[in-house]
Order: sequence, then structure tokens, then C-alpha cells
Amino acid sequence: MLVYLNGKFISHEQATVSVYERGFLFGDGIYEVIRSYHGYFFETEAHLRRLQHGLATLQLPFDDFAGLENIARRLLAENNLLNGESLIYFQITRGAAVPRKHFFPPPGTPPTVYIAANKFVSPQEMAENGVAAITMPDIRWNRCDLKTINLLPNVLASQKAHEQGADEAIFIHEGVATEASHSNFFAVFDGKVITHPRSPKILPGITRAVVLELCRELRLPLEETPPVAARLPQASELFLSRTTGEVVPIVRLDNVVIADGKPGPITRWLQEAFAQRIAARKSQKALTQEILLTE
Ligand code: PDD
Repeated sequence: MLVYLNGKFISHEQATVSVYERGFLFGDGIYEVIRSYHGYFFETEAHLRRLQHGLATLQLPFDDFAGLENIARRLLAENNLLNGESLIYFQITRGAAVPRKHFFPPPGTPPTVYIAANKFVSPQEMAENGVAAITMPDIRWNRCDLKTINLLPNVLASQKAHEQGADEAIFIHEGVATEASHSNFFAVFDGKVITHPRSPKILPGITRAVVLELCRELRLPLEETPPVAARLPQASELFLSRTTGEVVPIVRLDNVVIADGKPGPITRWLQEAFAQRIAARKSQKALTQEILLTE
């Protein structure tokens, strides 16, 4: 598998970083995950904007965002990933500096830029039948809106879910559900879709933003208000949103069956609308490219 590391396209086995690399020592970096559908990158601009915002907030100097997309395209082509689906992982950290110091390295220290593309098989079974989830206390920091590579609470929560045969762990903070270990979280009560508003307590998911747009297009009642944890077992529907799953129904929460134990109608509509959105954007882009080519 060919990956990109600091200006070079090399085999993943040869891609190594210094032991002084600040991502390795401090988790000092930002990452992003974009999904490619048969060579079409979904919501690239939004993902790159989030990456740019994260890097700027960490005061991590990097500006070649257009270059990132070209690198990703070459990785897809060279790794034979233009057919089928894949995930493109981008990680930018504050680079390597000796000796180990918590404060920033000297200006001019090059960031470490790592990009990899991997084949992705979409979890059809989960989308069809739904998944189980558990709840966990949200022990994370106050800047969950940044997609930093510091993911220890998420790792521990995801492991707990995994041990219990669940797909996800929903984080509970002061009695409300914020999001999940690697997904945003939605509940449906009395036909109304609710989800935690954008705040430092959640990652502003790109899939979440698309789901909110689709709710508006479908004229579904919607409220960005924190879902009350104690009420979740009585929800008529629960679902997750994430790049790696689009809209994922939750049919069991902490071993309580939600509604009739099957994905609900609103979740289904959103899944269908999401698939249509991808298809529409894909053909729109193909058309634009064709026009550009013939001009
Ligand atoms: N995770 N919340 C958290 C904490 C996440 O880690 C993710 C995504 C999301 C959903 O965001 P988006 O819709 O932009 O994928 C919400 C990625 C996929 C990951 O860590 O692999």
C-alpha cells in the first residue's frame, strides 16, 4: 500500500516518523477522514474547512489544502481504489523537535503530513438492521469541536462498547447525550428529530450537517437541543451519523430495546435521502467536469 508522508509517496512499510514526532509524543495534531464513492470525494470542501479550522486553532502552520486533495487523488489511483469505496485519512502534526518540550518547537519546524487511502466496505448489515449502543460518562475536554488525534476517552469508550457487543458508546455529560465515540447522535421523540447543538462539546460532524440539511428538505420537525439521557429509552428512534456509516440506526441502548427493535421510518427516510444526495452530488460533479472538458 502506497502512502504519502512529508512530500513522498512510499510504501506504508517504509513510512516511519521520528521518536521526537509531536503527534507520537503529545498527540499534537489534527486528523480528517473523507469517504470516496467510486473516486468521488463526498463533501471534500467541508472536511478540508474543518481541518483548516482545527490547524489554525492549534496554531499549527500549514496552508496547502488544495495540494491535499491532489495527493488523495493520486493515492486512490496508485492503490487501485478508484472503483468501490475507500476512506482517506489525513493527519497533520506539529512535526519533530529535539529535545522534548511541551511548548511549540522553533518557527520553521516542518509539520508532519501523513495521508493514506484504504479500501472501505460499507457496513450494509448495520444500516439494514441497526446496532446496539451503550451510554458512558463523557470524560473528554472542552474542545471536542476540534478533530485532534487525542482520542483516548473515545478509544476507551469504543472498547467498552466493543466488549459489550455494541457498535457505539454514547457520551453523557450532565444528564444529556452529547455525541458518540466516533459518531454524532440523534434521537426522535413524537416525530421530532433532536440532536445536540454545535458547541465545544461535540465534533461538528460533516455527516451531521448533511443530515440536518436533509431533515429541512424533508420538512421533518427538527430541534438542535441536547437529548435528555433519562428519556432516551423511550425515544421512538435513535440513530448515529458518521462518515464511515452515513445514517446508522440504533435499535438497542444499554440493553433496552428501542421502540419495536427495528430501524424507524424517519431513520429510513434519512438513509434513503442520504444515498440520493451522494448520487446527485456525484453526477453533478461528473457533469461539471464534462462541461469543463468540452469547453
Ligand atoms: N470520526 N464525533 C466524533 C467524536 C467523531 O470521531 C466522528 C467521526 C464524528 C462524525 O463526524 P463525520 O460525520 O464528519 O465523520 C462525530 C471519524 C470518522 C473517525 O474518527 O474515524
